[in-house]
Amino acid sequence: MKRGLPEKRPITNVGKVVAVSSAKGGVGKSTVAVNLALAAARQGITTGILDTDIYGPSIPTLLNLEGMEPDLDPNNRLLPLTAYGVKAMSMGFLVPQDSPVAWRGLMVQKAMNQLLFEVSWPKLDLLILDMPPGTGDVQLTITQSIELAGAVIVSTPQDLALRDAVRGVDLLNKVGVPILGMLQNMSTFTCTNCGHHHDIFGLDGVRKKCDQLSIKLLGDIPLHPQICHDADAGKPTVVSAPDGPQAQAFHALMRAVAETISIP
Ligand SMILES: Nc1ncnc2c1ncn2[C@@H]1O[C@H](COP(=O)(O)OP(=O)(O)O)[C@@H](O)[C@H]1O
Ligand SMILES: [Mg+2]
Repeated sequence: MKRGLPEKRPITNVGKVVAVSSAKGGVGKSTVAVNLALAAARQGITTGILDTDIYGPSIPTLLNLEGMEPDLDPNNRLLPLTAYGVKAMSMGFLVPQDSPVAWRGLMVQKAMNQLLFEVSWPKLDLLILDMPPGTGDVQLTITQSIELAGAVIVSTPQDLALRDAVRGVDLLNKVGVPILGMLQNMSTFTCTNCGHHHDIFGLDGVRKKCDQLSIKLLGDIPLHPQICHDADAGKPTVVSAPDGPQAQAFHALMRAVAETISIP
């Protein structure tokens, strides 16, 4: 048996792969990943989303695909599901909902291998990976198994979140994954009653961190109840309110990403 690191392999039919990442949970990775994928599809980029959060998959809920099961192609490869013009695959389609996944080590690697290499994607320009939090098994398996065009780091402007974001950046730097930039999420909240701006998690922590680390700031998504509500309803903001300022912020983010990795 060959020892050492696994060799990186291409994912059949998939062009560029971009990870939406942060070592911290709850900062909006899944919400950003799904809206980014939907924005890309609306900008004419053929896009898929792969939910790599095997412990807490969110994509089935976010795309209103809960309870759906993927079919197999003649070669026993998983056929992705489709929602709002985006192809999607998630461990959430393969294990019963609400039952916790208690895997580690080799089982994680096996599950990740299945998700990375045994999905029958149609020809895609872009595959977005919704990453789990942390800097552990899953992150290492992914970064060592496939070639990533880069990672978008999501963080709130809060110090605590930024510290974890930086830990994630360090790991990606170590394993040679290009950092495309950082996205500040859940920054300013504008009160729907009085119109006042409130900086719940701080104002420009991510911008400052970007300056400090010489990382590009890719965008800023305000804290808005609609984003949260649309996520729970399984119809993300880019689809549910396509002309609103929130959807436009995700479109601007996607344009910034496309520019960085030169997608058509
Ligand atoms: N910009 C935003 N405005 C309002 N709520 C948001 C925003 N971004 C994310 N959320 C909400 O924050 C929570 C955590 O987001 P999620 O995408 O699941 O984070 P992660 O994948 O990093 O754990 C969810 O309830 C989501 O709807
Ligand atoms: Mg998530």
